Amino acid sequence: MNLILMGPPGAGKGTQAELIKASYPVPHISTGDMFRDAVQEGTELGLKAKSYMDKGQLVPDEVTIGIVEERLAQPDCKEGFLLDGFPRTTAQAEALDEVMSKQQRRIEAAINISVPEEVLIQRTTGRVSCTRCKSVYHVVFNPPQQSGICDKCGGELIQRSDDEEETARKRLQVYQQQTSPLLDYYEEHGILHNIDGNRDAMQVFADIQEVLASIGKSQ
Ligand code: AP5
Ligand code: MG
Ligand code: ZN
Repeated sequence: MNLILMGPPGAGKGTQAELIKASYPVPHISTGDMFRDAVQEGTELGLKAKSYMDKGQLVPDEVTIGIVEERLAQPDCKEGFLLDGFPRTTAQAEALDEVMSKQQRRIEAAINISVPEEVLIQRTTGRVSCTRCKSVYHVVFNPPQQSGICDKCGGELIQRSDDEEETARKRLQVYQQQTSPLLDYYEEHGILHNIDGNRDAMQVFADIQEVLASIGKSQ
């Protein structure tokens, strides 16, 4: 399946991606995770990305499109992929369509998770994530069994540097300005599916499973 997960910062894209990949064998491609890995490794890409991420701004298209194209060319993406956090601009969406059509493939569904703004802020500011396996927790809504330690792999849980309230609000603004117009783009292509994300994560996942079943994907 060639799938896009959309939604503002904190909507639950990463959380739902984990649930999807546990049931459907598909590589999860999160541009945010790729950039954070590069920051951790201290690569040139990481240094560049960090300067934008810390301000809540988007990393420039020419950088982002390049790394996604490279990732989609890997053998594990042959049978499909789950994009999380890409595309985020019209240029990125057009570049993705171009890659797809060159390979005679197409995006089958863009799943948009909506959540009210104040809930988004509560979610981002309380999030902690695993430095090793990337699993996402929330100090109130989804706490780990032992504070600061990942239930799944024992890795260290840390807060993202762009999750302070001021930066989280800036990211929301950037989402409204640069990314939300893409919803019309996918609506026009007839592949947009809107989901109410302001519910329990398993209820949200059940709706996603319905969407996947409606496009012929079985577990
Ligand atoms: P990225 O990492 O993509 O961040 P984001 O889009 O801002 O989204 P988040 O990861 O914050 O939220 P999420 O929707 O994954 O929510 P989660 O599941 O974690 O991007 C970061 C930065 O990288 C960007 O600002 C930009 O600089 C750069 N970047 C990345 N992609 C780029 C691109 N394509 N172009 C340019 N720049 C790019 O959930 C959030 C919290 O809520 C968690 O604590 C979770 O436990 C909790 N939660 C989740 N679901 C529920 C639920 N149903 N009920 C209660 N709590 C829940
Ligand atoms: Mg995420
Ligand atoms: Zn972990």
